[in-house]
Amino acid sequence: MSGELRKTPVEELLKPNAAVELEALAAEIARHDEAYHRNDAPLISDADYDRLRGRNDAIEARFPDLVRDDSPSKRVGASVASGFTKVTHSKPMLSLGNAFNEDDIHEFHGRIRRFLNLGDDETVEIVGEPKIDGVSVSARFERGRFVLGATRGDGTTGENITANLKTVADLPLEITGDDVPEVLEVRGEVYMGKADFTALNARQEEAADKIFANPRNAAAGSLRQLDVAITGARSLSMFAYAAGEISAPFADSHWAFLDKLRAWGFAVNPLIRLCTTIEELLALYAEVEENRAGFDYDIDGMVCKVNRLDWQQRLGFVSRAPRWAVAHKFPAEKAETVVNDIDIQVGRTGTLTPVARLQPVTVGGVVVSNATLHNEDYILDRDIRVGDTVVVQRAGDVIPQVVAVVTGKREGNPPAYAFPDTCPECGSSAVREVGEAARRCTGSLVCSAQAVERLKHFVSRNAFDIEGLGSKQIEAFWQDGLIATPVDIFRLANKWDEIVARDGWQEKSADTLLQALDERRSIELPRLIYALSIPQVGQATARLLAKQYSSLDGWMAAMIAALDEGSEAYQELVNIDGIGPSVARDILEFFANANNREVLEHLEGELTVAAFDLTETSSSPVAGKTIVFTGSLETMGRSESKTKAESLGAKVAGSVSKNTDFVVAGSGAGSKRKKAEELGVTILSEDEWLAMVRSA
Ligand code: IVH
Repeated sequence: MSGELRKTPVEELLKPNAAVELEALAAEIARHDEAYHRNDAPLISDADYDRLRGRNDAIEARFPDLVRDDSPSKRVGASVASGFTKVTHSKPMLSLGNAFNEDDIHEFHGRIRRFLNLGDDETVEIVGEPKIDGVSVSARFERGRFVLGATRGDGTTGENITANLKTVADLPLEITGDDVPEVLEVRGEVYMGKADFTALNARQEEAADKIFANPRNAAAGSLRQLDVAITGARSLSMFAYAAGEISAPFADSHWAFLDKLRAWGFAVNPLIRLCTTIEELLALYAEVEENRAGFDYDIDGMVCKVNRLDWQQRLGFVSRAPRWAVAHKFPAEKAETVVNDIDIQVGRTGTLTPVARLQPVTVGGVVVSNATLHNEDYILDRDIRVGDTVVVQRAGDVIPQVVAVVTGKREGNPPAYAFPDTCPECGSSAVREVGEAARRCTGSLVCSAQAVERLKHFVSRNAFDIEGLGSKQIEAFWQDGLIATPVDIFRLANKWDEIVARDGWQEKSADTLLQALDERRSIELPRLIYALSIPQVGQATARLLAKQYSSLDGWMAAMIAALDEGSEAYQELVNIDGIGPSVARDILEFFANANNREVLEHLEGELTVAAFDLTETSSSPVAGKTIVFTGSLETMGRSESKTKAESLGAKVAGSVSKNTDFVVAGSGAGSKRKKAEELGVTILSEDEWLAMVRSA
């Protein structure tokens, strides 16, 4: 399913369709979270992302019993990236609910009054603050000294970036005064100023290095550098705006808290105001929005916070966001420009993505010269033609988009854009499966664009992560015929002479590369699976597969057996919770291709693949077992039981088969219980299940 909104209004959704859609939304939002938080490369605009989340929330509100364990409403951002040690936040770093219009703000205000049961004469003071579009961080001070810096991560666990944060000049490293609490955690946003961003990209371009799409990505990329010297060389700034753990309270309002931070030397945004009426708050919003292009930093809305801290305390949190604050979002910034050309890019799974080449234009302080056109329908629906004047929008942190054609400015009658039906890279036919938005090149292995993109993915950070072998080297090695498949990467030792003879290479650097390759010959199974570029198989799915099949051999054999859709192996695959028929189809298509199987077999010869470790839980009675939960569970609840089972090393499946070890049947269990009886699968009552896990 594409990022485009499903058309049926939520009120008209039938329950089975709602369930299907929630599943798709969970997967899609997870993919965007990962792209945004982990890879610093968002795929859709903030507004579209918020719409996806909004739709997810609305469907869940209508069908509360369909809320999934992996629902986006239960998660914040992505989990930790590799390379940094983890930090568990002493207080979770949560996110904010959104308000998109004035009605939403009135509702926010009304909710607070009702919740606190306030009389008409009581005023709710609200602090309005620009919502800085950067990277949220936590800085911990003990006895006035900065001791720990962390990113938000998934809200519970972040990355330790203490050394990196020390390079941010706006953060004091030492604070003094009688009233400095023993423990003080200050939260805020690290950002890169627009001018610094432009200068950085100019330097990057000169050095033929990575160009950042926008200041937020540049800030995130610069902050999360293992080499702190790189962070130090980038100009990062920070605004402080919230508290984490505090050993002794020193303010009774948010306003007083911010005053104190300012006095201690933190940078506090100068546009923050204390408002006593909604009108004042909305006027502040309008004023800041009008001027925002002129600020040196990106903001994507106003955060409204209840001023009294005792009220904040009482209001508390709902799932991932505080009741006492809301983010009033700005609409995306827009500008007009001309489409000079439309190019087609071919991704690693063969997707043809059209890109508009634009007359460069400044949108919200950043020069934009390319914009994604997503897919064929996107161009058709808007009738975008080469030569057209278009409205371009840049929503904070994301690849700019062409939103509409200014039809009045169309000159003459340029031809409608004809989307190619062959791949511009390899000439193979490009086809569109029914129900899919993307046209895909069918060239697979013969398509050079796909091949190169797959090789780049193979060595990328979350896959093989080979030091010294990045996108640029892969491209160059591929061009010159040193590598064609992933196996060739591990056979580069045979090409030592050729490498050394290359421009910019010496014996020493070639040896270093070969050593880095050798270090990656042992690999964990999930990383290997992820590295293969199977469509729809991201890190999470790769982990599910590794967990189910434990070893590379086991997985390969099972997938080859599953090519027969009538087989038990096929049933086992589609039965994995989180893998449906569509993902299964992509995995099996990969295995149906003899070339892919050959590459895998040869890779096996080059690598040592660690069997997937079901952690230290193997002594538990459910470790390695497949469990199905059915009916309603009273004490632990379905989702908690499931999490518990998984944490004890069990696999949780959605339907009962011969491979099921236990069915836990709560009250009202029906067909699954019956199936278990027929197959002779052990059925546990809720109490038996509880006894089993409590003994674990
Ligand atoms: S307060 C519990 N204030 O917005 C609430 N957040 O979507 C803590 N942000 O993760 C957040 N400017 O990264 C707050 N003035 C501001 C902010 C701000 C930017 C970010 C922050 C947070 C996200 C929530």
